[in-house]
Amino acid sequence: MAIRVGLFGAGWAAAAVHGPSLRDFKRRRGGISLAGICDIDGAKAERLRREFGFQKSYASVDAMLRDADLDAAIVAVSVSQNAPVARACLGARLPVLLEKPPALSVRAVRSLAESVRKARGKVMVAFNRRWTPSLVRLKELLDGAGPADSIRCDMRRVKRNDPDFSTTAIHGIDTVRFLTDRDYEQLTICYGRCGPKGKSASTHIVGTMTGGAVVRFDITPMAGMEMEQYTIHAGGRTLVADLGVGRHMDELSVIAGGKRRDVKVKTPSTARHDMTGFYQEVAAFLEAVKRGGRLPGPTVAESVQSVAVMVALGKGRTRYRTA
Ligand SMILES: NC(=O)c1ccc[n+]([C@@H]2O[C@H](COP(=O)([O-])OP(=O)(O)OC[C@H]3O[C@@H](n4cnc5c(N)ncnc54)[C@H](O)[C@@H]3O)[C@@H](O)[C@H]2O)c1
Repeated sequence: MAIRVGLFGAGWAAAAVHGPSLRDFKRRRGGISLAGICDIDGAKAERLRREFGFQKSYASVDAMLRDADLDAAIVAVSVSQNAPVARACLGARLPVLLEKPPALSVRAVRSLAESVRKARGKVMVAFNRRWTPSLVRLKELLDGAGPADSIRCDMRRVKRNDPDFSTTAIHGIDTVRFLTDRDYEQLTICYGRCGPKGKSASTHIVGTMTGGAVVRFDITPMAGMEMEQYTIHAGGRTLVADLGVGRHMDELSVIAGGKRRDVKVKTPSTARHDMTGFYQEVAAFLEAVKRGGRLPGPTVAESVQSVAVMVALGKGRTRYRTA
């Protein structure tokens, strides 16, 4: 029997990455039916229902949970609604793939983690960098090169004057934890200006991971170029992953003794959802649901520190130290 999947949210992420991932999973691997899509803006839900072939569209979470007879939920709603919609799905005993950030405060993410534990629920947090082929390969190369001595994340975006960029910066924050298999020990955070007339804030961080690797971030939401790059020094080698962020193929290289070797990375296609890990993330979630086993990580509990550092940035704090 095909598992019945519901997509909560019909905004950018649903249209650009989750809808295409679900449609392609159904074609490539099968075993699912696209049972329903819901959005509080019913017209958006109906538009994406037609585009991706969902059976029904709904204008409320409760209506879809009551009517669609779901076996699995993907939650990609406005950031403030992720946690409440995930709770509703948890109440309906559905396994959930929950977009980042799983909650907007440390208290809320801890409380959600506790609810998952009490309900013996299954919630996988969607940090797509953990599934991005170039970063998965980077992690394999790092595992072979020895522990990271230092790691640097550069995030640059164009014209992103979001009131709070920390909910996007959480990608870099979580990716460094993923790549090093370590948590943050302590961070010193400094804020600068960027954009026309300095109207947005840049964020600059230096600190250490447990285990001693030094970490550094430069995050510039209003830069002249898009870039997301991870540079790791380990065992005398330099490993660099440059994510294409929608403009070009990711580039991955290993530099040793002054010689650079480019590493090829395989992706199912050059479509955005295939290159950026969304397809692989959705596929890993759905295969786990089909098997009835544990979901891949990270769990909500494992995401608490990423949210804590995101909150420190959002509040303009200058220090973060693990509790
Ligand atoms: N992993 C990534 O790279 C990535 C990229 C973009 C967005 N996201 C995440 O995906 C989620 C959605 O982002 P987006 O860019 O699509 O935002 P968006 O604003 O384009 O869409 C969100 C949609 O959710 C709907 N919504 C809000 N509350 C709802 C509720 N209670 N029930 C049903 N629908 C509701 C809104 O009407 C809207 O259509 C966010 O959590 C965001 O952080 C992740």
